[in-house]
Amino acid sequence: MPIPATQFIWFNGKLVPWEKATVHVLSHALHYGSSVFEGIRAYETPRGVAIFRLRDHTRRLFDSAKIYRINVPYSAEQLNDACRQVIGANQLKRGAYIRPVVFRGYGEIGVSPKIDPPTEVAVAAWEWGKYLSHAEEEAGVDVCISSWNRVAPNTLPALAKAAGNYLSSQLIAAEARRLGFAEGIGLAPDGTLSEGSGENLFLVKDGALLTPALAHSVLGGLTRDSVMRLARERGLEVRECAIPRELLYLADEAFFTGTAVEITAIRSVDRIPIGSGKHAGPVTESLQHAFYGLFSGKTADKWGWLDYVDMSAPRVAASG
Ligand SMILES: Cc1ncc(COP(=O)(O)O)c(C=O)c1O
Repeated sequence: MPIPATQFIWFNGKLVPWEKATVHVLSHALHYGSSVFEGIRAYETPRGVAIFRLRDHTRRLFDSAKIYRINVPYSAEQLNDACRQVIGANQLKRGAYIRPVVFRGYGEIGVSPKIDPPTEVAVAAWEWGKYLSHAEEEAGVDVCISSWNRVAPNTLPALAKAAGNYLSSQLIAAEARRLGFAEGIGLAPDGTLSEGSGENLFLVKDGALLTPALAHSVLGGLTRDSVMRLARERGLEVRECAIPRELLYLADEAFFTGTAVEITAIRSVDRIPIGSGKHAGPVTESLQHAFYGLFSGKTADKWGWLDYVDMSAPRVAASG
């Protein structure tokens, strides 16, 4: 989908005009994939614009950088602030998608050069509605099991949200779309279920909520974590475990979670209907209500997940 340009991007410590946030073609990340990033949503709520789980996203960004030994030249609080600044400076009052990215920039060439290239950091934000249409969300999506597996343990670390991992995602998503599906699900190298190209996977079976455990080549999604907490609070049994592929075909309900897709029902897998095969099942629906209720005010934010942005704060002058 096209990116609706805004006015400013936070780039290496200051707000710069959107079109000036550029990098050198010999940047390390462009050649060797040495970049880690986040995808965060800000929602319009009755109390103003709020960023969902901002501190947790920033922590995951630092965790991803730590795995790859990328030094981040800013503190977590500075990056949290950068996220707030791009919302405020661009007056994204209707909510937004925020994309922080940390990458090895321009310096020496080579996979592991003697002198580390400087780390560059950018935070952009733009208005972004639903990833899937409302109708699609209500009806659920048709998905397939990909012929591509997710990354094997001790190859590329799945818990790092690193650019390179999204080559696997591109193979899975492109194959699924080529075959006429909305999304593909990758299997872990042992053949058990893992996740979608950019979403975590949940099943409902006999009243329990099941999701592949972190050891099954999944990203530790923050929507995944939020849904598990909301489910447990509602008395649902939640199990993180190894799940055989065929259990997905036999599930009463299935859905994806992620910052982009939020909670999206799956109505068929490999053309096998899940549940009624027509719309989200009752457990999925109740979790959708609980989740979206966080932003309408109907679900209490017990965990302090909403980080409100002061839109009236003085704008930081752009330079560059
Ligand atoms: C591969 C992958 N799995 C799962 C997720 C869901 O994670 P989150 O809920 O934190 O957006 C994402 C999205 O970031 C992803 O890219």
